[in-house]
Amino acid sequence: MKKSVSELLKRKGVLPISMLTAYDYHTATIVDEAGIDMILVGDSLGNVILGYENTLAVTVDDMIHHGKAVCRGAKNAFVVIDMPFMSYQTSVYDAVLNAGRIMKETNCQAIKMEGGAEYADRIKAIVTAGIPVVAHLGLTPQSVNTLGGYKVQGKSVEAAQKILDDAKAVVEAGAFAVTLECVPEALAKKVTESIDAITIGIGAGSYCDGQVLVCQDMLGYTDEFSPKFLKKYANLHEIMLKAFREYKTECEQRVFPSASHVFTISDEVMEKLY
Ligand code: KIV
Repeated sequence: MKKSVSELLKRKGVLPISMLTAYDYHTATIVDEAGIDMILVGDSLGNVILGYENTLAVTVDDMIHHGKAVCRGAKNAFVVIDMPFMSYQTSVYDAVLNAGRIMKETNCQAIKMEGGAEYADRIKAIVTAGIPVVAHLGLTPQSVNTLGGYKVQGKSVEAAQKILDDAKAVVEAGAFAVTLECVPEALAKKVTESIDAITIGIGAGSYCDGQVLVCQDMLGYTDEFSPKFLKKYANLHEIMLKAFREYKTECEQRVFPSASHVFTISDEVMEKLY
């Protein structure tokens, strides 16, 4: 049965929520089969799938293209799709229009957008249109050029207070969940205790109502990305590299394909060819 907003809200303080990113059908089916509660089609697909250096070039069409595939694979998991850079910053009208397109064309259950009180009007309008919203505070990668890099946020009194105030503002505007990225654990705990919405942390410690990781990161697709908060549950880089190298060798040595991989034809037919 598809998970719902009310079901997820009931988990607050009861049972932590699991969330992973996915960008394609097959990954979504496996994440779903594992019983993961929520899937995020993150705009991290810009880095992870499309090879951009950041998320800024990702378009609404990119999100819809990958979101559709994920939604087809997620039978039970609650699917959230990111609003990419410049799809909501420009106006309330653009925000509702793009959130509506994403939900209508993908069949997702909610959208996620970065930013705090300054986007409360967008959140309110999107929720009013019937689209559940997940907010995103702390390290907001779409603002990488303003933040000056991918750093832990909310370390000073002012910065921590702003994150707390923003969390209250986005929930007041109607967000049912808040993603907290790269903030100190004690601040994430304070935010979690201060709002009725669920908090989903990435690099935000263990007191959040749920956790999210980028699928490729936790599977160890690359050995180049190892931030402090990341736990690698597998080393797919090593497994894939070994498989690809073995395949290359077997192609070169004609070990593959072997007899069990080939189709046969009768000698009688072959003899008639000229
Ligand atoms: O785009 C993304 O994958 C995200 C997560 C890092 C939370 O926003």
